This record gives sequence, structure tokens and C-alpha cells, in this order.
Amino acid sequence: QSSKHNTMASYWTYFAKGIEYTLIITVVSVLIGFVLGIILALMRLGHNKLLHGLAVAYIEFIRGTPLMVQVMFVYFGIGAVIQSLPALAAGIIAVSLNSGAYVAEVIRSGIESIAIGQTEAARSLGMSQKQTYQYVVIPQAIKNIWPALGNEFITLIKESSIVSVIGVGDLMYQTQLVQSATYKGVAPLAITMVIYFVLTFTLSKGLNYFEGKMKHE
Ligand code: ARG
Repeated sequence: QSSKHNTMASYWTYFAKGIEYTLIITVVSVLIGFVLGIILALMRLGHNKLLHGLAVAYIEFIRGTPLMVQVMFVYFGIGAVIQSLPALAAGIIAVSLNSGAYVAEVIRSGIESIAIGQTEAARSLGMSQKQTYQYVVIPQAIKNIWPALGNEFITLIKESSIVSVIGVGDLMYQTQLVQSATYKGVAPLAITMVIYFVLTFTLSKGLNYFEGKMKHE
């Protein structure tokens, strides 16, 4: 084998493909997780005891079990019912279900952080509960929720590496392919670490920028 063939640069397509998969999984999961998180947070904050209980149970269970186990459970569990469930779909489902539980808590604490005095003031001005939420609580809560959602995005870029265990071709999985092909353990990992860091660092700087803009409005 020529040494030229062993240089990491000649495996750039693997890394490129891995980045693509990692970003797809992260973006789709953060969107689904956000929608799920809103639903769960409303269920948890609401007065319906059954819905409240279900939301609490879901959130606690998801946060109390490892993402790796959840990913494998969805892949083999749903895979047993629906034959040939693509690993990518299983990965996205599992990461989304996981993210929803964390996002629910972000939204709940964002809403609960708005002082009760705000609600009381709005209600005493004659606003309905719906109006109070819509015009007083939510606009203020969003300021707290938005940065935390950005953090969730960053978390998922890193944590989505776990889907490599079911063979989804994300960045971590591609790294392992390059390791096998080159018989090199460290170099592919070093490259991958730098890639993950560039992704999360860029995103975090970008989010800070928008956050700064929001504050000046
Ligand atoms: N490492 C965590 C676990 O194994 C996953 C955390 C996922 N976090 C999140 N914000 N979605 O359970």
C-alpha cells in the first residue's frame, strides 16, 4: 500500500459525508424536539392531571436513561415491528424523542421564570388567561428560552455521535471507517475532534451574535 493512500486528506470524502449526516440528524432532531418540547411543556404546566403526569413521566424517564440505550432501543424495537427501518430514521427518531424531553424543561423553566406578578398584573388589568400568556408571559419567556435552544442545538451536534452505534453514517461512524481503512487510530479521531469543535464553536459564535441583536431591540 502506498503511503500516499494512507494520508488523511485522501479520505476527505468520508469526513464530508459524515459532516453532512451529522448536520442533517441534528437539524431535523432539533426541530422535531422543539415541537415535542412545546407540547410536553404545555402538558406539564397545564391543569389536566393525566396529561401532566404523562409529561412528567416521559421527561423523567428520557432524562434518566442513556441516549445510547434509547437509540438502540428505537432501532431494534421499532425495527422488530417495521421491517427494514432505516438506521438513519431510527437515529433521528431517537435523538428527537430525547431532545424533546430536555427542550420541554427549557421551555417550562423559561415560562416559570416570568414573575407571577406579571401574570397577576395582566389579569387584574382584565386580560384573559390566554391573552396574558400571549402578550405578557410568552414574549418575555422567549428571551430566556432562545439561548437555551441554541445550547440544545450544540449539544445535539455532539451527542448525535451516538447514532454511530447503529450504523448511521454520521461523522463518528465515518471516522471509524477511516480508522479501519488506514489502520490509524489517532489521526482520524484528531481530525474529527477538530471538525466537531469547528461546528460547535461556529454555531455558538453565530448564536451569540443573534442573541446580542435581540437584546438591542
Ligand atoms: N449524554 C446524555 C445521555 O446519554 C445525552 C444528553 C442529551 N441531551 C440533550 N440535551 N438532548 O443521556
